[in-house]
Amino acid sequence: MDRIRIVGGHRLNGTIPISGAKNAALPLMIASLLTEGTLTLENLPRLADVSQLARILANHGVDYTIEGKRSGDSDTQGQTVHLAARQIVDTTAPYDLVSKMRASFWVLAPLVARMGEAKVSLPGGCAIGTRPVDLLLMAMKELGAEIEIEGGYAIARAKNGLKGGDILFPKVTVGGTHTALMGASLAHGTTVIHNAAREPEIVDLAECLMKMGAKIKGAGTKTIEVTGVTRLNGARHAVLPDRIETGTYAMAVAMTGGDVLLQGARADLLQAALDVVEQTGAKCVQTNDGVRVTRNGGAIQPVDVVTEPYPGFPTDLQAQLMALVTRADGVSRITETIFENRFMHVSELARFGAQIRLDGDTAIIEGVQTLKGAPVMATDLRASVSLVIAALAAEGETMVNRVYHLDRGFEALEKKLGACGAEVERISAG
Ligand code: EPZ
Repeated sequence: MDRIRIVGGHRLNGTIPISGAKNAALPLMIASLLTEGTLTLENLPRLADVSQLARILANHGVDYTIEGKRSGDSDTQGQTVHLAARQIVDTTAPYDLVSKMRASFWVLAPLVARMGEAKVSLPGGCAIGTRPVDLLLMAMKELGAEIEIEGGYAIARAKNGLKGGDILFPKVTVGGTHTALMGASLAHGTTVIHNAAREPEIVDLAECLMKMGAKIKGAGTKTIEVTGVTRLNGARHAVLPDRIETGTYAMAVAMTGGDVLLQGARADLLQAALDVVEQTGAKCVQTNDGVRVTRNGGAIQPVDVVTEPYPGFPTDLQAQLMALVTRADGVSRITETIFENRFMHVSELARFGAQIRLDGDTAIIEGVQTLKGAPVMATDLRASVSLVIAALAAEGETMVNRVYHLDRGFEALEKKLGACGAEVERISAG
């Protein structure tokens, strides 16, 4: 297994290109199941999760073609990919594929919408919590699907097609909203989704579906109305920039000090998070080329933050923020309200000398002046990058083990940081 070795203490200066958003790319790829036409996605990041989903979709009959490099393309430029599900050859998503990536459960809605049936393995728990799919299944039932759970699989049937319904989510769910949008787009009649997730990735999916011919109003607000159509077409769509990658590198710069342009980033996609980065003492300014983050000396200031659905502070940046304020001049509090077990990084951050105490869903972080490099272990995607942020500021050497978690969601991390002056190298298992 690959490891990443980091020697801390270098300021970050330069440019980091921001990739297409993983959490937009995955539902967009899944949307290709809704049409016989070709869905072309631009700015698709090169990530392990994207490749894994391509394998899962191939199993259903999706042809997946990556366009070759064009002259003038840089290594970090996103890929252009054509997805064509001319014929769905298999409506079963087996356990060995779904268990590797939870988002693959979302194939349920387009498969039922197009084929009238699907059998998709239940994804099971994961490192950040139990993560049930009851609300996704509820949405499918509201759209007229009959659902059975058998042998660890959700079996959904709608022989005469899905029909419009009224879906009220008792809790904001991104996956639930993606499911409802994809199902309702090909349902007979109109669907209203109440208490919909407002994440930018929802808006990106809705925009792509509309290019494919779907009739959707209100994406990005709490109430979305979808008028079903009988068929969707192919389309061309560019994946929006990754707000979590943007926030992660903004926090890395806030940690080490320096001046970095996050090229292609959009501040409006993560204003709440950038406000918090500014509270810690860094400056974040939107320019024509992206978001410029600077911190020129001065202590890191402590913060008091609660994770919330969009537009609040995202759970996917909670671990990175915690790493940053381990060196704050004072006591910070971070409350996690989305996932019940998303504190796996706490014990790893302690290995750098961080002082963190857990009180229920709140972490109380007493800032220390210095962190010291240590061997640490990645537990999930965002937790692992929090260890990288700590390592960038720690004295001496850190070895981050189990790097495959990072590869799931951060494209060319060591290259991007290395180009800005960080001492970071990947040690391949060989
Ligand atoms: C998406 O997961 C993201 N994944 C997650 O990013 C992100 O942390 C999460 O949204 C919240 O923003 C992708 O986009 C691929 P939810 P999702 O349904 O859709 C509960 C990362 O690191 N819930 O919005 O699975 C659930 O347990 C990942 O990139 C139910 O109770 O999250 C949680 O408490 C990790 N029943 C809350 O809702 C359900 O049926 C929000 O989850 C579904 C969810």
